[in-house]
Amino acid sequence: MLESPISSNSPCILVTGGAGFIGSNFVLNWIASGKGRVVNLDLLTYAGNLGNLGPLLENPDHILVHGDICDRGLVGELLLEHRPWAVVHFAAESHVDRSIRGPEAFLKTNIEGTFSMLQASLEHFRSLPPHEARHFRFLHVSTDEVYGTLAPDEPPFHEKTPFAPNSPYAASKAASDHLVRAWVHTYGMPAIITNCSNNYGPFQFPEKLLPLMIVNALAGKPLPVYGDGQQVRDWLYVIDHCRAIEAVLKAGRTGETYNVGGSNQQTNLTVVLTLCDLLDELVPGSRYRPHQQLIRFVDDRPGHDRRYAIDAGKLERELGWKAEETFSSGLRKTVQWYLDNQVWMEEVTSGSYQKWVSANYGDRAISERSTVTASAK
Ligand code: NAD
Ligand code: DAU
Repeated sequence: MLESPISSNSPCILVTGGAGFIGSNFVLNWIASGKGRVVNLDLLTYAGNLGNLGPLLENPDHILVHGDICDRGLVGELLLEHRPWAVVHFAAESHVDRSIRGPEAFLKTNIEGTFSMLQASLEHFRSLPPHEARHFRFLHVSTDEVYGTLAPDEPPFHEKTPFAPNSPYAASKAASDHLVRAWVHTYGMPAIITNCSNNYGPFQFPEKLLPLMIVNALAGKPLPVYGDGQQVRDWLYVIDHCRAIEAVLKAGRTGETYNVGGSNQQTNLTVVLTLCDLLDELVPGSRYRPHQQLIRFVDDRPGHDRRYAIDAGKLERELGWKAEETFSSGLRKTVQWYLDNQVWMEEVTSGSYQKWVSANYGDRAISERSTVTASAK
């Protein structure tokens, strides 16, 4: 095992996309646990939110830089000035439905942006004295969607599963993973890739399944389930993902890929029905109870991947990581967080969010089969 870079004498890391969902959870945790300073480079797109970082905005261990990962000059200056021992690269366009409606931004940020991060980081790595270069890591945060879709009886994705991305988002992430791989192979870049399954938890923007359903259910709006709702995702609580990234930074082998997932496969319909039951319990006074009456089956997502599932055995065996949260405990925490953070929700759902909702859902036909019963679980 490598000597832990976390115990090195240069306790600063550069995080990209640290104002987004996973990035903000990661940065909050990192600083709260005293692991050192974070330079947080974020463009603050619609998905980036300073409200996610509230307690850190006055904290000297958190240096927020409003800028673009495609700006290689800026990234180079930040690396030179702060001399981080690691780059944790979260920044991306991350929503599949948006990638279908407007793929350009995905190619720019996810491919060109990763190229820019790699070039600037390589130059920085090469300029480091050997004792610092030895610790330097570039961790590229990626997705299980690069592997494509699984049939019901196929085994979960493992690190050697061939890439078969199906959406513009997945293709752009696969391209970025290939760039990282090539920089390792050709230039000796000390990079590691993580490919994770669907995350859920606090601060997730309500364009994604769970927070969208929570926001709609609390407002008595329809809960739009795509297609037949039988698509399967492998859900992981966001803090477990953050812990996996920490484990990989600490002891992961450079040039390797680690799959991250919670071994928690569920159909979308089951997830939404479970959420409805939980809302019935946690909001007993709601006039929309039972919340499952709000479920509507709507036109499917084009090219919709049927099933994702992750084999995280390598991460568990090599680095001792294991998901700590069950879906039941994680979902309860998540719903409670949204109930306790209505102001955050109101802020993120005002303005351009409404335009997205009407663009994505306005013209989706509702199927005849518009109601479900608990037996559908
Ligand atoms: P997100 O959309 O919530 O956040 C993305 C962040 O990146 C935002 O803060 C945004 O402002 C920032 N950003 C976008 N373009 C930028 C640019 N050009 N320069 C600087 N910052 C920019 O995304 P997320 O769900 O937190 O995902 C983070 C990463 O994890 C992504 O790389 C994603 O592919 C990957 N991932 C996500 C999931 C998931 O379930 N959400 C699962 C596996 C992997
Ligand atoms: O698997 C990891 C990926 O998970 C990440 O790489 C992505 O960044 C992240 O967005 C997520 O992608 P998905 O497309 O799986 O997540 P999303 O929350 O958009 O959708 C989850 C499932 O729910 C998917 O099968 C589509 C379905 N869905 C989604 C929405 C928004 C609905 O049925 N209705 C909806 O309104």
